[in-house]
Amino acid sequence: MKPTVLLTHPLPPEWIASLDAQVTLIAGGEESPGWRESLLQALPHADGIISLLTARVDDSILEKTTHLRVVSNMAVGVDNIDVPACTRRGVPVGNTPGAMTDATADLTMSLLLAAARRLPESSADAREGRWQTWSPTGWLGADLRGATLGIIGLGKIGRAVAERARGFGLRIQYWQPRERSEGEASGAEYVPLDELLSSSDFLSLHCPLTKSTRGLIDESALRKMKPSAILINAARGPVVNTSALTRALTENWIAAAALDVTDPEPLPPSHPLYALPNCFILPHIGSATHGTRKRMAEMACENLLAGLRGERLPNCVNTEVYD
Ligand code: GLV
Repeated sequence: MKPTVLLTHPLPPEWIASLDAQVTLIAGGEESPGWRESLLQALPHADGIISLLTARVDDSILEKTTHLRVVSNMAVGVDNIDVPACTRRGVPVGNTPGAMTDATADLTMSLLLAAARRLPESSADAREGRWQTWSPTGWLGADLRGATLGIIGLGKIGRAVAERARGFGLRIQYWQPRERSEGEASGAEYVPLDELLSSSDFLSLHCPLTKSTRGLIDESALRKMKPSAILINAARGPVVNTSALTRALTENWIAAAALDVTDPEPLPPSHPLYALPNCFILPHIGSATHGTRKRMAEMACENLLAGLRGERLPNCVNTEVYD
């Protein structure tokens, strides 16, 4: 009998072609961000789960399974999954590191450049008839060459951002909970968090969402930043406290923010952040390129199939299940 696999959101068949003939696939709905009823009902039969980052895989889900062998997340971040709960049940959790590094770093630079040069605001002014002349003092933005980029989290994506930012003449410094030697190799200097906050012209977040990074950029952090600073978040929304950021942008504690991720997601259209000219929000599209999303899906299938065969996942976040 073929193993039963639940997929929390349908994916293009060519992305998951490796599952053909191998598994019985039960997919969730196009519009459903997580667990629709039909999927919940199928949980007792599931041998494997392919989850998107919008689907929580926590104890309430796991306890409905009876012989689950693998959870494969189509994302590098696994904050939607209760990994310790999977580990307790001996279920390996897979993710897709590396697949989205370039796409996310490219998007981060797009956010940085767009915020620095006020592209959303000036584009709206052009479209809406406020472009009357070439104004020597109009739409002035921030200079990049010689400015300082602070990176929180110098993992794969942080390093890829550093590599790109160097080409624009930015000086790069970083902080993360654990100092790592690759920092120096990326031409980035390690500085304590407070110094990073108070001396960066651009602050870009690339850390995973964990207990220690949730709310890291709160009121006290935002108040330490320069009034001219620009915050970029292409990591996870809850690393930033949304109401503190709204105040910071309204009261000009910092100059601007460019966000690919928000808390909550999606951020409702009525949220005050959208009304601020110094805030620019994208709908979590960091990895949204054709090649990247296909590769992420393929990696998720590779992890899933390995788990179903009882083999070690090529990319496993809780390798302690193998001890
Ligand atoms: C995307 O946000 C990911 O974690 O892969």
